[in-house]
Amino acid sequence: MATATAPHAPISVPAPAADNRLAIDGGTPISKTTIPFMSTGLSDADIGAAVRVLHSGMLRAATKCDELERRFGAMTGAKHAMTCANGTCALQLAYEPLFAPGDEILVPAWSYIATVSMVVARGCVPVFVDAIPGTAQFDVADASKKITKKTKGIAATHLYGLVVDIDGIQALAKAHNLKVVYDAAQSHLAQYKDKPIGAFGDAVTYSFYATKNLGTGEGGLISCNDDALARSIKLLRSHGETDKYLHESVGYNYRMNDITGAIGCSKLDRLEAQTSQRQKNAVRLDAAFKDVAGITPFEQTPGTKGVYHLYVIKIDPARFTVSRDQFAKALMAEGVPSAVHYPRSLPQQPALSRFDKNDTPIAFSLAQQVLALPMHHDLSEAHLSNIVAAVTKVASAYRR
Ligand SMILES: Cc1ncc(COP(=O)(O)O)c(C=O)c1O
Repeated sequence: MATATAPHAPISVPAPAADNRLAIDGGTPISKTTIPFMSTGLSDADIGAAVRVLHSGMLRAATKCDELERRFGAMTGAKHAMTCANGTCALQLAYEPLFAPGDEILVPAWSYIATVSMVVARGCVPVFVDAIPGTAQFDVADASKKITKKTKGIAATHLYGLVVDIDGIQALAKAHNLKVVYDAAQSHLAQYKDKPIGAFGDAVTYSFYATKNLGTGEGGLISCNDDALARSIKLLRSHGETDKYLHESVGYNYRMNDITGAIGCSKLDRLEAQTSQRQKNAVRLDAAFKDVAGITPFEQTPGTKGVYHLYVIKIDPARFTVSRDQFAKALMAEGVPSAVHYPRSLPQQPALSRFDKNDTPIAFSLAQQVLALPMHHDLSEAHLSNIVAAVTKVASAYRR
């Protein structure tokens, strides 16, 4: 666990090394060891929980999946919670009862591919909506311009652990009678106007992939308020089975297993504390980057409380003599790893090239600018200082 600090205490940045040369050019690195980019480790309690399931012999979905549905479900703010095998099939299970083949679905041009690929898998037509430059989230104003008679739904992502403009999306949906699915794979426990984000829309999906804030290896969950929708999702999840070998409808095997459920329940004990540590880290990094010209962290949508699955900055290409990728290489040499989420927008993906590009210039430009810095509950005071010092040093060296 990181050392507890007051949320707004400024980060103390180490004094620059005497020669001030970048480590990539032979100077002294800011951090002698590489700062961990994320923290996905299992505790002894998590391992013990998994081993107890192994000893029990009850490996399929059973009491631990039920417990995860109950406990994580309570945190979503929705009436129903259904575990499943991963976040991609969570999307598929949510889309199938709500959207029909041929429907036009408004989707983010800036997201992970699964949000959109499962729209395509349903036989729907994705209509790309641009991102808001300051938040990287789904731009409701752009979405409203792209509505046609065939538009039947919205599939919006709460990206990076931040939150979209839910009121805006719900108002648009109400005006045009659209179904809404929110992809909260990256935003466990995030809030909108002091309520959990799972309380909004027709369905909300989550991923428990290894690196997610609650990571079980693979895993997912769908939350919703509607009883009939919850029933449809449960049937689709397990071959439409209503009694042993009695299949009311055609479905899939998208069930979770109890080893995964046990790891999820055990990690859930720490999720709130870890989330609040991420939030404190983000407040302090935001404050430290305020005065670094050309470096802009994404803001939160007003009224929302993000959970910082990722901490992403924009590197303004007009302010630096090098590209974002060269900037990242120089940071790595200073001991600060980073990652690009994502190197191209969804309309630029070969798999989606047959769909209308629909003009999403902001998403196109984000692909050249975004850089995710280390962000997790285990970042120490020294890690935070070194991240700020390294970004500041690289930015000064390459400033135009
Ligand atoms: C926004 C988003 N949606 C969906 C998914 C898919 O989840 P999974 O990898 O569990 O299938 C991910 C996973 O990275 C994601 O980040």
